[in-house]
Amino acid sequence: MTSSRIRILVCLTDNRPEPWIEGLRAALPEAEVENWAPGAAPADHAVVWAPPQQFLDDQPGLRGLFNIGAGVDALLKLRVPPQTQVVRLDDAGMSVQMAEYVCHTLIRHFREFDLYEAEARAGRWSYRKPRERRDFTVGVMGLGVLGERVAKAVAQFEFPVNGWSRSAKAIDGLRCFAGEAQFDDFLGASRVLVNLLPLTSDTRGILSRETLLKLNGGRPGGYLINVARGAHLVDDDLIPLLDSGQLAGATLDVFDVEPLPAGHPFWSHPKITVTPHGSARTEREASIAQIAGKIRAMEQGAPIAGVVDVERGY
Ligand code: NAP
Ligand code: GLV
Repeated sequence: MTSSRIRILVCLTDNRPEPWIEGLRAALPEAEVENWAPGAAPADHAVVWAPPQQFLDDQPGLRGLFNIGAGVDALLKLRVPPQTQVVRLDDAGMSVQMAEYVCHTLIRHFREFDLYEAEARAGRWSYRKPRERRDFTVGVMGLGVLGERVAKAVAQFEFPVNGWSRSAKAIDGLRCFAGEAQFDDFLGASRVLVNLLPLTSDTRGILSRETLLKLNGGRPGGYLINVARGAHLVDDDLIPLLDSGQLAGATLDVFDVEPLPAGHPFWSHPKITVTPHGSARTEREASIAQIAGKIRAMEQGAPIAGVVDVERGY
């Protein structure tokens, strides 16, 4: 007997599948939800994080492939069946976390809280000369779901904010730059660089010596916040720029190899802050609600947000 129920498979690396399966069953009682194992019966949709190629090869009839993150770079390394729609998480609680992380990092640097902390530990009551926000223009690379929210949050603190995207935009409170043609102008006019680009063939290695030297009109004092993907950064280019004083510091949440290997120079560099890829975590409940809503919409033939353009890479 064949079942007419929608069938959903869950295939998660680095995540316990059980709470996702229970949550999806509760949100979609009309569906059959199972954990994937090799040889599983064909499904209509899948909820995944970094699945193996075998998973996709076994599931040529998938209609929706729902990634439980915003970035789809790991998924697009695989051969995805041509009729399958790849769907990224569309905020689902991430943009507020990213705004917190970037604002915290920016303000910690701008207000020199690390120096105050060192002085306080030494028992010294010492003021530092206040710095001007107008000297700390923030440049946000990527003005998508996360980048736009971050740029607007930073602007709330009255920092001048630039944004750079692929297509031209007009966003209140931001000076917008677009495309390769305006990249150098964007960098030259920005001192604190926040990376929120997707990792694609166009953006891999974009945080290179050449790029970072252009920050702040070429003057020393730039600061890097990388919260997108480790492979955006050319690791070997960063440390000489910090050691020479060209860059004042960097906060890195993402790395080419994760976890960041023991002994990697980023761990111990005094001008680098490392966090373990947690600037914006996937919130399970919000994500399940979003994915369930999209599966229902797709089943009814309605359009959904967050469908990835596989050719473009995001
Ligand atoms: P998104 O909505 O797809 O936005 C991407 C933005 O980047 C868009 O504004 C796009 O321009 C721009 N862009 C893409 N390629 C470009 C290029 N070649 N030149 C200039 N601009 C380009 O993505 P999102 O949801 O904001 O997420 C961004 C990234 O953050 C994800 O891909 C992921 O890697 C990372 N992330 C990290 C964490 C973490 O915890 N560290 C959490 C979530 C996400 P257009 O607007 O013109 O298309
Ligand atoms: C996390 O890095 C994500 O892409 O959601």
